Parts: sequence; C-alpha cells; structure tokens
Amino acid sequence: MKGEEIMKNKIVIFVVLILIIMCIVIGVIYYKNKEQSKESEKEMSSSNSQNIVQDYDNDGNDKNEINSMVANSDNTNFNFETRTVKLNSGYEMPLNGIGTYSLTGDICYNAITSALNSGVRLIDTAYMYGNEEEIGRAIRDSNVPREEIFVITKIYPTQYDNPEEAIEMAFDKLGLDYIDMMLLHHPGTNDVKAYKAMEKYVKEGKIHSLGLSNWYVEELEEFLPQIEIMPSLDQNEIHPYYQENDVIPYIQSKGIVVQGWYPFGGRGHTSEILGDETISKIAENYNVSSAQVILRWNLQKGVVVIPGLSNPDHIKENTDIYGFELTDEEMNQINSLDRNEKHDWY
Ligand SMILES: NC(=O)c1ccc[n+]([C@@H]2O[C@H](COP(=O)([O-])OP(=O)(O)OC[C@H]3O[C@@H](n4cnc5c(N)ncnc54)[C@H](OP(=O)(O)O)[C@@H]3O)[C@@H](O)[C@H]2O)c1
Repeated sequence: MKGEEIMKNKIVIFVVLILIIMCIVIGVIYYKNKEQSKESEKEMSSSNSQNIVQDYDNDGNDKNEINSMVANSDNTNFNFETRTVKLNSGYEMPLNGIGTYSLTGDICYNAITSALNSGVRLIDTAYMYGNEEEIGRAIRDSNVPREEIFVITKIYPTQYDNPEEAIEMAFDKLGLDYIDMMLLHHPGTNDVKAYKAMEKYVKEGKIHSLGLSNWYVEELEEFLPQIEIMPSLDQNEIHPYYQENDVIPYIQSKGIVVQGWYPFGGRGHTSEILGDETISKIAENYNVSSAQVILRWNLQKGVVVIPGLSNPDHIKENTDIYGFELTDEEMNQINSLDRNEKHDWY
C-alpha cells in the first residue's frame, strides 16, 4: 500500500512539474512574440523599411498602401525650418536647388546668377552637361560665400576607366577648391573603381560627400558591399507619372537621401504634368502653381528637388514651396497618378 501511495505522489509531482514547465515555456513564447510585434510595429511606423519594398515586390497591386507609407515618410532628416537635410556624411544639403541639364553658355551663367540671387544654394551639374565652367564662373562672380553653396557634379561612365583624370577635370572646370558632392552618373563598367577613386578625394577632404545616380534596388544591392564610404545621395527620375514608390523607401532605409530628376517630367513633357487636372485642382486650393505643388509633394515624400529652369520667374516660384503643406489625402491623390511612365531610358 505504502509503495502504491509513494508511486501516486511521484506521478502527481511529475505532472505538476510538467505543467509548471509548460506554463514557463508558453509564457516565454508569448513574451517574445509580443516584443517582436512591438519591434516590427516600430519599424513600420518610423521608417520606410526594406520590408516595404518586399511587400511591394510580393504584392505589386497593393499600391495605395505603399503610397501612403511613402507619403508619410518620416525617416529623411528633412528640416523644413532650415530647409536642409543632414547627410550621412555629416554635411547639410539644401532641400531644393536648380538643375542645369541642357543649360549652357550665357543661359546657364545667367540662370545660376539669378538662382543664387533668389536664395537658391544647391546646384546640380555634370561633366555630361558641358556647363561646369559657366557654373564655376557664376559662383565665383556671385557675392554668395562659397561655403553657403552646395555644388553637385557627376562623372560619366566613359570616364570610369581613368577616374582620377575625370575628377581632376571637374575641379579644373568648376575652378573650386572643394566639391560638395560628386556622383557616378550611371552604373557602368569600372563604376566601383571610379567610386573608390572618389573615396580617396573624400579622405583628402577635397570632395565632401559621394553619391550615385540612376542606381535602383538591384544595382545598389550589388554595389554597396564593394565600397567603403556609404553614398549620401541617389539621384533618380521621379515625377507624378514615374514615382518609384518601390525604390524610394529602399534607398531611404539605407540612410541615403533621394533626389529626383525631371520633377516636371523633363522638357517636352512639362505641359502635360503641369496641366494635370488633379495637380491643378490641388494648386488652386493653396493659390500656388502646379509646379509648386509637385515640388512640395516631392519634399513631403522625402525627395530633394532640383528642377531645371532658365526663366527667373520660374526660379522664384520654385523656391517658394515652404508656405503650404499638402494633406495626406492630397498626397495620395498625386500618388495615384503614377503610370510607371519613364521619360528617359536610364
Ligand atoms: N542624373 C541624371 O541622370 C539626370 C537626368 C536628367 C536630369 N537631371 C537633373 O535634373 C534636373 C531637372 O531635370 P530637367 O531640367 O531636365 O527637367 P524638369 O525640371 O522636369 O523640367 C524643366 C523644364 O521645366 C520648366 N519649368 C521649370 N520651372 C517651372 C515652373 N515653375 N513653371 C513652369 N515651367 C517650369 C523649365 O522651363 P524654363 O527653362 O523656361 O525655366 C524647363 O523647360 C536637370 O536639370 C539635371 O540637373 C539628372
């Protein structure tokens, strides 16, 4: 009898122990899951993380959800008071500037002079635009202190074979002691070699920040592990008809600032985009122009703008984009205009 009782007691103790262990295991699993979901909630709300890209890739139809996340971008370090963004290189860059593609000679010189006089402090040029000399001259002739101006130039794939020569040429043409930012204009043969040459100039303090242009998700995935200094900027085609809503959050998740080219669709397409009914209606609400609405939409998506312009009236208009704010609904109305319609081949 005694032996049976001892056996029973042992079984009861064994079962109680099992129950206690199960409770502890369930408790630990529950706690871990809770922590994980808190973490992913934080990630989703605080940034346009890489997960957003994956969601989009797996479910390309869920565009509006993505668009509103992009529209509410809050991981960009954009400071609307100083109108600058702090780059991962530590330098501040203006949120709006002037693009100079297809501006040469006096038209270019006058456009830069006029832009500087109107308070524009960000200038985008490139070896390929053939206007670095005029831009350097306009900067030197202006009364604006050099350190207030942020100059971006780019070297072209045909130059990647001999990048030092290309970089020196940019210095010669611009006639500047330092260059604020240099980009690789496109992916191409020897792009890593060219980037590494630019890295040397950064270490010597001659170039302040580096960047890329026309690099998308796949190109970045391949390129970034091969270089040392993280790019500060990626300049890509972005306008209401080509929004890159899959690419922008990915780039931003890497701490790289996105800058858009062809904000008005590029020459030959501007009247269609600026005349777009949805954009024009929103512009009416604020008593501003369609151009201003497009630039503001970019800024609220965390995209730096460099509209190309030669007309001084356009310069003033395109700078006056900080006095109104688009609502989430208006942002989404413009987001829904995306047609994946690229206006250039790259
Ligand atoms: N990285 C790359 O591969 C790449 C490629 C292309 C361009 N980009 C850069 O991006 C910049 C912007 O592109 P983009 O200049 O070709 O095209 P864009 O900015 O889309 O359009 C320029 C056109 O818009 C007009 N415009 C400007 N402001 C306006 C306003 N407020 N109202 C009405 N019209 C206005 C300009 O006219 P006016 O001249 O009469 O003022 C010009 O005809 C380029 O200048 C370049 O710096 C880079």
